[in-house]
Formats: sequence, C-alpha cells, structure tokens
Amino acid sequence: MSAAAELVLEAVDEATTKAVGAALARLLGAGDVVGLTGDLGAGKTRFVQGAAAALEVEDPVVSPTFMLVREYDGRVPVHHLDAYRLSGPAELEDLGLDEVLPADAVAFVEWADRVAGALPASWLELAFHTRPDEVREIHVRPHGAGWAERLPELRSALDRFRARAPGRRLS
Ligand SMILES: Nc1ncnc2c1ncn2[C@@H]1O[C@H](COP(=O)(O)OP(=O)(O)OP(=O)(O)O)[C@@H](O)[C@H]1O
Ligand SMILES: [Mg+2]
Repeated sequence: MSAAAELVLEAVDEATTKAVGAALARLLGAGDVVGLTGDLGAGKTRFVQGAAAALEVEDPVVSPTFMLVREYDGRVPVHHLDAYRLSGPAELEDLGLDEVLPADAVAFVEWADRVAGALPASWLELAFHTRPDEVREIHVRPHGAGWAERLPELRSALDRFRARAPGRRLS
C-alpha cells in the first residue's frame, strides 16, 4: 500500500471518533471487513459504536473482550470481534471464518494486526494513534483490490475529517 493511498483523519474527541465511524458506515455492506489497530484506549470501540449506530444497531455495543465476537442486528448483521487475546490467525480460523466473518454481515475486528493473515484479501484497515494532546489520528488503509477501487468514495465520505498536517505529533 503506497502512502498516497492512505487517508489520515483527525478526531479531537470521542464524539468525532464516533462520527467518523458513522460516516464510514454509510459505505458499508454485507461482506465488508473493517480491521482496527492501535493501543489500548485508542478509540477502536468508540469508533465501532458510532458505526453500529449508523448501521441501525439499537442494542448497546460493548467491548467484546470477554466474548471474542458479538453479533448485532442492524440494517445488515454487524459482527464485532476482539482479537486481543487470540494467539494469531490460526486461532481465528479455528472459530470458523464463515461464522465470525460471514458474507452477509459487516465485521469490525479490533486488534486486526494479530489476525491479519486470516482476514479476506480485501479489508479496510483503520490504524489509531493517540497524540500527546489526546487527539486521535486515524490512518485509513485499503487492502486488496476491492477496497482500493473504493478509495474515491472513502475520500469523499471522510473528507471532512482529514488531518491538515498529518504525522507531525504522533506518539
Ligand atoms: N478522540 C477520541 N476518540 C476516541 N476516544 C477518546 C478520544 N479522546 C479520548 N477518548 C477516550 O479514550 C477511550 C477510548 O476507549 P475505547 O474503548 O474506544 O478504546 P479501544 O481502542 O477500543 O481500547 P481496547 O484496546 O482496550 O479495546 C475512551 O475512554 C474515550 O472516552
Ligand atoms: Mg476496544
């Protein structure tokens, strides 16, 4: 993935992180896999909460840490996974990829870097970085041909969150 294809966004507070999730959710449909990376407390779950609300999920979205995967009803089924305690891609595969990442659902995978080898060829990465001033920088990286083709729609949906001077104050 070339740097030119990466979008860098800024979220000054939790509400903005949720708004980024909601803006992305408008582009999402069955079979889409969104992988979230970044440290503890970076904002991954807040992002998923904003996206799920926009996907018409009414139940509260909570951290799936002790469940591994939670399933919600929305305008499409929404699966929320947390790979934090998985040893690697093989453990995700053991759970049954057709069940945790089914073709009829939108899936959000926290700690996606731990299981990247088990994700489909096409997935969208969102890498969260916490700056010293607590602003979250979100790097949006398409993986695979499917998401690369959708880059123009990503740009227009997320344009209002673009960072003006990305990367200067990363922690
Ligand atoms: N700009 C911001 N965006 C998101 N969360 C923020 C922001 N600023 C502060 N916060 C706070 O940071 C925390 C983010 O928590 P969240 O559960 O979303 O993190 P996470 O990346 O899912 O962590 P974990 O790896 O433990 O699952 C919340 O307490 C939230 O209030
Ligand atoms: Mg989380």
